[in-house]
Amino acid sequence: MKKIFYLLLSTLVISACTNANPEDKEKEKFIDNLMSKMTLEEKAGQMNQYNGFWDATGPMPEGDYQKKRYEELKNGQVGSMLNVIGVDQIRALQKIAVEETRLGIPLIFGHDVIHGYKTIFPIPLAESCSWDLELMQKSARVAATEASADGLHWTFAPMVDISRDARWGRVMEGAGEDPFLGSLVAKARVSGFQGENLSDTNTIIGCAKHFAGYGFSEAGRDYNTADFNEYTLHNSIMPPFKAAVDAGVRTFMNSFNTIDEIPATGHTNIQRDVLKGDWDFDGFIVSDWGSIEQMIPHGFARDGEHAAELAVNAGSDMDMESSLYVSKLVDLVKNGKVKIETINDAVRRILRVKYELGLFDDPYKYCNNERSKKELASEENMKVALEAGMKSIVLLKNDKSLLPLEKNGNKIALIGPLATDKNSPLGNWRSQAVYNSASSVLEGMKNNSENKISFAKGLDLYYGQTNFHNRVKVNYDDRSGFEKAKLIASKSDVVVMVLGEEGHQSGEGRSRTNIGLPGLQLELLKEIHKVNKNIVLVVMSGRPLDLTWEDKHIPSILQAWQLGSKSGDAIANVLFGDYNPSGKLTMSFPRNVGQVPVYYNFKNTGRPSTSIEQVTNSGYADVENSPLYSFGYGLSYTSFSYSNLSIDNDNMNKTSSIKASIELSNTGSRKGKEVVQLYIRDVVGSIARPMKELKGFKLIELNPGESTTVEFEIDNSLLEFYTYNKKWESEPGNFQLFIGGNSNVSEYKEFNLTD
Ligand code: BGC
Repeated sequence: MKKIFYLLLSTLVISACTNANPEDKEKEKFIDNLMSKMTLEEKAGQMNQYNGFWDATGPMPEGDYQKKRYEELKNGQVGSMLNVIGVDQIRALQKIAVEETRLGIPLIFGHDVIHGYKTIFPIPLAESCSWDLELMQKSARVAATEASADGLHWTFAPMVDISRDARWGRVMEGAGEDPFLGSLVAKARVSGFQGENLSDTNTIIGCAKHFAGYGFSEAGRDYNTADFNEYTLHNSIMPPFKAAVDAGVRTFMNSFNTIDEIPATGHTNIQRDVLKGDWDFDGFIVSDWGSIEQMIPHGFARDGEHAAELAVNAGSDMDMESSLYVSKLVDLVKNGKVKIETINDAVRRILRVKYELGLFDDPYKYCNNERSKKELASEENMKVALEAGMKSIVLLKNDKSLLPLEKNGNKIALIGPLATDKNSPLGNWRSQAVYNSASSVLEGMKNNSENKISFAKGLDLYYGQTNFHNRVKVNYDDRSGFEKAKLIASKSDVVVMVLGEEGHQSGEGRSRTNIGLPGLQLELLKEIHKVNKNIVLVVMSGRPLDLTWEDKHIPSILQAWQLGSKSGDAIANVLFGDYNPSGKLTMSFPRNVGQVPVYYNFKNTGRPSTSIEQVTNSGYADVENSPLYSFGYGLSYTSFSYSNLSIDNDNMNKTSSIKASIELSNTGSRKGKEVVQLYIRDVVGSIARPMKELKGFKLIELNPGESTTVEFEIDNSLLEFYTYNKKWESEPGNFQLFIGGNSNVSEYKEFNLTD
């Protein structure tokens, strides 16, 4: 009954949009016509996606497996391919689809363009710390321009999973722990990838992933079971996905985890009821890699046929690499387990997106070698990478104002395995980046200053070459470089140490139970600290690390993540003060791994703890509940003060609004930028509410001595949440409003909401 309802609903949606505008009418008419000619086998073929499987510009594929896929391609049984790289390869495969299949339906080519294509930008988590939405839109735009110039139509990004657990390696791909910021970042990235008009040759289709709840993998272990309630799903996990739909994203990818014990790929409620129903999404959903077949080990599907049946009926439109739609759907329809209307709906969605890309007008429109040569890794694109790199850095500590460093007259010891590493800064999911192509910190520092810089690696962080598929082999025993490093440190005015994670220590399948500096790095840092206390620690990592010892002993700490192609230049510009750091954390840094998941928008519990000494309260015996560095935190080389928090009215109703303001002053001696943050607490709700929720922010730049009034408008929409009634609505009552430079801000004003 439910299924019939959805099919009816999607037909209604289609006819509603058919009625809505002539272009849509034309598009749907074209698709009707095409679909009327398609056999069931060809329809199942459109729903099948394969990984690039042979060198299409070379000889015919060898081996049964390859040959079978090639035959399927020629028979119109493949609708999309991923990971086919380069104009020539894409053109060659497209030619087979267009010229050799019966109906000549073009393929759509997808790839993970996560933080750049050839020009690599900071990993998304880093870039979100800029809080600069325009910048994030711009870097996605550049990535799309490069990917499309190389023949691609579709990126599997943005990843909009909310992440609260630093053990999970994939935190690097998202925008951190907050749904409000995450929603704005999702919108910026989708707009950047998709541009103004999808049929422009410099745009690509975006894909909001992983739908949904993948970031909640238990114990931070990748692909693990996730357990959260319906309110967490709607209030914390869903908002960035909804924002992506509102921004016009054309595809979704589902996720590997379960929701309410049902694998997301086979989850009717989130895919059909919510996404395609409540949210009116008329693009298509691709499964995650093999996730249809993986419903078998999940213990949800009996076999491949059952898995295909469950997935398609639940709303998964395209099968990435399970090969089950192409092999099972025809029979499933014939024996009545899957309705032809279900298949038609999925195929229509896929063809719609191909139509919007303009592939039916010109299937080779993105295949332009000239463009590819000119636009990939251009000087202009690299400038955006540098800007993004500088803006993503977060200054965590600067006690003795050791930073910024003087440009000359200093003896600097540069120490650490990552100081000359030109590969790690490219991070994971680096697409077409050339191996070892990032600028290193040593290069950046040499280009930027006249100081005498001596370098010692101190240790090897890892052995061998690393890549997406292998585990990084960490050095746990070779300390032979320590002595040289200690010697140069002892003879220097200041030591810059570059430590952290190798570029493939975070990302997919890279969960860690120990989130300290890997290998012998902390030991090296302690040794150097014995001979020189003037240490600036530059941390490169794909996740928040446990920096508790470092925070206690090291005067200056810069969180430099993995910043991409211009990493070393960006870091040097910050070290020497050419750029005054303005980044703020979008994910909390725990005091130790035992604290995770730790996040700012937690709930109070019935026994909130305020100190370690309290025994029967919700706290630990060994560390405070608060993280080491909280969400929203980050320092500058100047200082800011906040005063005169005020609201123009302490009463509002659901149709009125109030204004809140605060005075911000630059009290230091440099020009600087501050991310002014608005938080609201809904004191009593029909369900327990978070202690604070981000509800606005502004980037304000001030000269030394300058002050300004920063204002926010609060209306009913900011107070809504998914209530006990299972509806998005606000609830009358008392609210607290905070404005400050991080999520720890404590001063507040109260206001009341009435109906
Ligand atoms: C990942 C996705 C990715 C896909 C294709 C999967 O393993 O979970 O995020 O888009 O592979 O590369």
